[in-house]
Amino acid sequence: MKDMKAIIPAAGKGTRFLPASKAVCKEMLPVLDKPAIQYVVEEALAAQASEVVIICNDDKPEIAQHFSPQVDLERSLEDKGKHELAQSVRHAGSLPVSFAEQPVALGLGHAVHCAAEFVNKDDAGFYVLLGDVLVPGNELLKRMRAVSEAYNNASVIAVISVPMEEVSRFGVIDAELMSGSQQDGTAVWRIRGMVEKPAQEDAPSNLAIFGRYLLAPAVMRLLGTTAPGAGGEIQLTDALIELLKEEEMYAIQVGADEGFDCGTIADWLTTNMILAARDEELSEALQAACDKISG
Ligand code: UTP
Repeated sequence: MKDMKAIIPAAGKGTRFLPASKAVCKEMLPVLDKPAIQYVVEEALAAQASEVVIICNDDKPEIAQHFSPQVDLERSLEDKGKHELAQSVRHAGSLPVSFAEQPVALGLGHAVHCAAEFVNKDDAGFYVLLGDVLVPGNELLKRMRAVSEAYNNASVIAVISVPMEEVSRFGVIDAELMSGSQQDGTAVWRIRGMVEKPAQEDAPSNLAIFGRYLLAPAVMRLLGTTAPGAGGEIQLTDALIELLKEEEMYAIQVGADEGFDCGTIADWLTTNMILAARDEELSEALQAACDKISG
């Protein structure tokens, strides 16, 4: 199996999360007991990424800090007999991550291109995992890789089905079903086209690009010349539209209970509640809170 690196863009402005994200970036806000971005790093490592590169900048030193050892804290926890906590601190500080800088948030496409030096032309591809999107089951990247290998190392992106009235918030694909079915989540589509944040009446489907990509190395070359698009930002979607002129591209489906966007306060809250409901220790507290709410 060829090397596959993982790029985690985490240098965005996080304006939809203000004022919570004023001093602590949204990627570092907790989902249950750890920051969102730790789930993302662990997911990349679970998919055997050969290197995990976080795109960051000087305004967010807390990310590098989280992934650095904190020996004094570990020692003081051990001294107090808090071995499990000490182990969780040691674990976060020992996850193997590298960093690339995006000095100014010029868009997702620009962020990915900031890691261009990590991707070689003859790599099988590279993963992109948005730093504020979680897939805690850690199975999606493996499924994407299997589809990529079945189609000659083609690019594969994850899509989620969203209500038609919400499509204008997302990148949306126009696609032809190749195998499987949407009902049981096994669908594989060949992508015919895609459009960033379409008006509802222009949207080719309700399949929204979700925040996990397995991309051919050619995308890095195309990003080098991608002009600013929607919102004045350099969009990854625009480079993928160019890629479609050169290569085939496929999409697979993320289940509604499999992937979670944490980019807004409402989505983050929902994610915390769903994951708390699945957690042995926290589900009781969640149930007690729900009981209080319903009186
Ligand atoms: P978002 O689309 O959520 O953008 O980025 P944002 O700028 O962080 O947030 P808002 O829209 O202002 O609220 C998705 C992921 O891509 C990263 C973000 O950090 C986030 O993890 N990103 C986005 C970058 O790394 N650089 C960019 O220029 C834009």
